[in-house]
Amino acid sequence: MKCTIDELLIEAHEGETVLQAADRHGIEIPHFCYHAKLSIAGNCRLCLVKVNNLPKLMPACSVVLAPDMVVQTRSEEVQRARRQVMQFVMLNHPVDCGICDKAGECTLQDYQRDYGAPQSTARDPKRHNRKLAELSPRITLDNERCILCSRCVRFTQEISGSHGLAIVDRGAHSTVERVADAWLADAYSDNVIGLCPTGALLSRDFLYQSRVWFLEPVPSACNGCARACSVQVWRRKPERALQMPGAPAVQAAYRVTVQENSRINGPWLCNTGFGLHKAMARPRVLAAQVTGGTVAAEAAIDRARALLVGARKPAVLVSSQGSDQEFDALLGALGRLGGRLQAFVHADRQPARGEVVEDTLLIRADKNPNRAGAITRFGAVAREPFDANAGHDVVLAWGEFDPAFDFGGAHVVHLATFAPALRAEVVIPVSTHFERSGSFTNCDGQTSAFSAVFAPPPGVLHAADVFARMAP
Ligand code: SF4
Ligand code: SF4
Ligand code: FES
Repeated sequence: MKCTIDELLIEAHEGETVLQAADRHGIEIPHFCYHAKLSIAGNCRLCLVKVNNLPKLMPACSVVLAPDMVVQTRSEEVQRARRQVMQFVMLNHPVDCGICDKAGECTLQDYQRDYGAPQSTARDPKRHNRKLAELSPRITLDNERCILCSRCVRFTQEISGSHGLAIVDRGAHSTVERVADAWLADAYSDNVIGLCPTGALLSRDFLYQSRVWFLEPVPSACNGCARACSVQVWRRKPERALQMPGAPAVQAAYRVTVQENSRINGPWLCNTGFGLHKAMARPRVLAAQVTGGTVAAEAAIDRARALLVGARKPAVLVSSQGSDQEFDALLGALGRLGGRLQAFVHADRQPARGEVVEDTLLIRADKNPNRAGAITRFGAVAREPFDANAGHDVVLAWGEFDPAFDFGGAHVVHLATFAPALRAEVVIPVSTHFERSGSFTNCDGQTSAFSAVFAPPPGVLHAADVFARMAP
């Protein structure tokens, strides 16, 4: 159907709201409570627009377009209504942007600048409320900053299902509150931090760690399960590098946020994804070893090559944390061994104690991101578990292993990322996926790409280079 928004003739879809159609055509209608993946609450009234010369302004988030509808989003009447709504919203807001982590990416701050009145006309002192309360071990709640848009509440009711948050009391006493202990176990609770249009809900892990404009996002992928969700890893901008002794060696990822991807995770992540930067900061294997002694990487690769060339029945345990590109490199090296090397796909990570094993939203039971990519390349036979009694004399063990893993007396070459390495004949340190670019193939066959956030530490190699240099 044809409609008009601000003199622009548009083609609207059946059932489309004014706000959705305007957004699709690059027309900004400010809004707080509307979110594309949540039910329509219609409570903030910031999205008011003029429709067909009706006497009252209408909320763009809930009015569905009809044929020949004429909408105005920039008239003086609409702009006055926005100023009034902003004035109401700001009436009791503390405006403590100077100490608020949300500053720099706060919708309230942006809208006040773009649509608010330049001067407050409030005569009464602001109402005080609870500040920086511990809503859970992961999240703080500052009720003074809350504008009661109810996004967080609707998220727990409609997406995560914990029903952990609610708005309690009435009128000026209304506050967001934790109402169910299920909130503490909500595996998706951190999503409300990004959903909140103000600094009312903040990450305790990131609290006061950095101003957001000192940081920049790098597109990456979560390796916490076979969903391989798209994420953004936030590192310091080069021009904002820390100026202190030892700072150049600091490769800190400050936080992880969602990168919306309709093919994989939509706009959500689970809490494991939000904690990815901490999992990746675990102690590392940083030096190559041969029979327990530290050696140059080249010497370790030479020793590994000699073992593989001389092996009667070699095997490789393929890390399901590896990338598609690394699997291809390994296949290239396998070809040069004349097909003698037998491949088994190895699950580096098992569910941790207390971790949600699987659910119907995102979380998968396989806690590794690329088993599907490995099986595609190494064949269904690689699904078989490694048999310690099958007579393998040399095993190339790539990834994380239980120290008690049974290699059946074979010579072991360990490509290790996180400490401790196996007590293997050869140990070669290899990079994490924060230190290289590539892709995973997720449980649904979707490609989830990631870019390098940091360079590898000195002495750490990329597994793909190791395979190329190790081949005969
Ligand atoms: S805490 Fe944030 S998301 Fe929740 S109601 Fe308040 S402003 Fe909205
Ligand atoms: S669902 Fe899996 S891939 Fe997605 S954020 Fe959680 S652990 Fe990471
Ligand atoms: S976005 Fe329409 S009323 Fe809040």
